[in-house]
Amino acid sequence: MTLYLIGIGLNDEKDITLKGLEAVKKCKYVYLESYTSILQVPVIKLEEFYGKKIILADRLMVEKRTNDILADAKENDVAFLVIGDIFGATTHIDLVLRAKALGINCEFIHNASIMNAIGVVGLELYKFGKTTSIPFPEKGFKPETYYDVIKMNKEMGLHTLVLLDLRPVEQRFVTVNLGIQYLLEIASTRGDGVFDENTMVVGCARIGGDFHIKYGKAKDLLTHDFGKPLHCLIIPGKLHFIEEEALKQWE
Ligand SMILES: C[S@@+](CC[C@H](N)C(=O)[O-])C[C@H]1O[C@@H](n2cnc3c(N)ncnc32)[C@H](O)[C@@H]1O
Repeated sequence: MTLYLIGIGLNDEKDITLKGLEAVKKCKYVYLESYTSILQVPVIKLEEFYGKKIILADRLMVEKRTNDILADAKENDVAFLVIGDIFGATTHIDLVLRAKALGINCEFIHNASIMNAIGVVGLELYKFGKTTSIPFPEKGFKPETYYDVIKMNKEMGLHTLVLLDLRPVEQRFVTVNLGIQYLLEIASTRGDGVFDENTMVVGCARIGGDFHIKYGKAKDLLTHDFGKPLHCLIIPGKLHFIEEEALKQWE
């Protein structure tokens, strides 16, 4: 039997590919990985369009109860749906490795990801450096790694895509505003000129859907309303004149 890993795109039920839909239709069990991203439509919309009941696979299920998914896939065709594209998280790769170790056939059906759809802002995808993410700070856990990644990319003239943490169950999301606030807080203690109120940034929301993009100084985007999640942030590196022109669309 086959475990299908299927990217379902960024926005709504209709972003699945034809190949993906055909695979879903023949699967007995359909899991939706529901913690690394969200769509702009409720799960019922997917169920209606796919004609299948969807089992939500949260972080605990994917990381701890992978055995259940694999046990299903040993006996039946199983779809594991991932919002965006399929290999955005280590746990997805782990799932495939474990399936293969059990002799389960795996098939991969790709889709658009935030990692390439972000090209809509007009920055050259090849000129992005390491991607980083801003997590929610917790008691005793306030990492600053993302600041160092931005610094490293800037030194090489590269753009930085900054993903923003999400807790879908609690409906909590790091917004562009919050991301900038955290960066300014770190910048005020470092004082190394990597980031300040006047740093030009690109704030993005709901790419692939009713997207909203704004290019401006950090201090201005700090209070700009980007609307519903998901959000992400770009700190541009050295700009080619075409990139400069493209960014003007969003000023
Ligand atoms: C782990 S990534 C999701 C990877 C996903 N599998 C993919 O291929 O797009 C999740 C983060 O990416 C960003 N993101 C994902 N989709 C987005 C979208 N449509 N618009 C803006 N940001 C998005 C958000 O910062 C979100 O918290």
